[in-house]
Amino acid sequence: MDHPEYLHHMGIDVWHERKVAPADENAAAWKDLKARVEACTACPLHKTRTHAVFGVGNQQADLLLIGEAPGQQEDLKGEPFVGRAGQLLNNILRAINLNREDIYIANILKSRPPGNRDPLPEEVTACTPFLLEQIALIKPKLIVSLGRISAQFLLNTTTPLGKLRKQEFHYSEMKIPLLVTYHPAYLLRAPLEKRKAWEDWQLIRDRLKEN
Ligand code: URA
Repeated sequence: MDHPEYLHHMGIDVWHERKVAPADENAAAWKDLKARVEACTACPLHKTRTHAVFGVGNQQADLLLIGEAPGQQEDLKGEPFVGRAGQLLNNILRAINLNREDIYIANILKSRPPGNRDPLPEEVTACTPFLLEQIALIKPKLIVSLGRISAQFLLNTTTPLGKLRKQEFHYSEMKIPLLVTYHPAYLLRAPLEKRKAWEDWQLIRDRLKEN
């Protein structure tokens, strides 16, 4: 008689931690959305991309990070934030006890702008309906905009990023709490800003704990 069975015969209930995530009832919607992104030709960027970069992570995550657009490494691999900025993002996440599998990571654009130039307004208009569908499926408890392009689109503002940090916004009629921080690629170019970014990430960590 093995140990748990012995306890059972003594009338002692043994509780096991559930390791299996509940089945995602939106699995079919996710599959359909990903197929539409991969087949999308709504803007000229589809002609120069290697892969569409859909998004990655836990589709039922509490935290959704939204960046700008794929760079070269992301375009080659088909996954967001896998280049140098992605390594820095992984380190930041580790510092607040999170990893990529706990959260969901997406971008404003699903295709790489040539030479990593800023997304054009018409590209943002063509691509963001996909992101809005992702947000509606995930229903995160917190959205974090990484950088100006993401923050200004989601908040429908032209206010500079520095003025959007450290305030809690509410995204759309879903009223999802939204915080803004520097893009990791900017932190690679301006390492002195890392101190301010760390303040933002502490706020993000504390805000997640409240949920
Ligand atoms: N920068 C972004 O905004 N997104 C990526 O996926 C990679 C770099």
